[in-house]
Amino acid sequence: MHVDRTEKLFIFGSITLIVIFAIAIAISGIAYGIQVPAPYEQVNPNTVSTPGNSPFGAPVDERVRELAPGKYEAYILAQTWVFQPNEIRIPAGSELTLYVTSKDVQHGFLVQRTNINMMVIPGQVSQVTMTFDDPGEYNFVCHEYCGVGHQTMYGRLIVE
Ligand code: CUA
Repeated sequence: MHVDRTEKLFIFGSITLIVIFAIAIAISGIAYGIQVPAPYEQVNPNTVSTPGNSPFGAPVDERVRELAPGKYEAYILAQTWVFQPNEIRIPAGSELTLYVTSKDVQHGFLVQRTNINMMVIPGQVSQVTMTFDDPGEYNFVCHEYCGVGHQTMYGRLIVE
């Protein structure tokens, strides 16, 4: 079979690119620990906020917990059109793990001035961990259109 020289060059070039990309993905995943966000766990959106069923059913003011000095976790329930809790306070330098789920429709969760950006899907818990060294107010907003009150859906993360 005759393959034109230019065509051979393109075939070789395409295969080389695929190999380079695969190596780049392997290096970023293994050496740098960069992972595609994956759902933390599956839950039943109808019962996830029932008291006693899950941390999302705890009273709103008990959904931010200090696990150890400088280590916090927060369980945020998204629903049309609020985040509960919508205000989180942590001391500067703390590591915060956020768990977010929705009890109704699809929402988004984006913390401004950070690279936290998740989809919030009913039935799934999204999770992200980040250390906040710089004091200040970080607004978090819903960035998936979720109905007529979408633009009112936001909260504040206060790093003191
Ligand atoms: Cu929730 Cu947009």
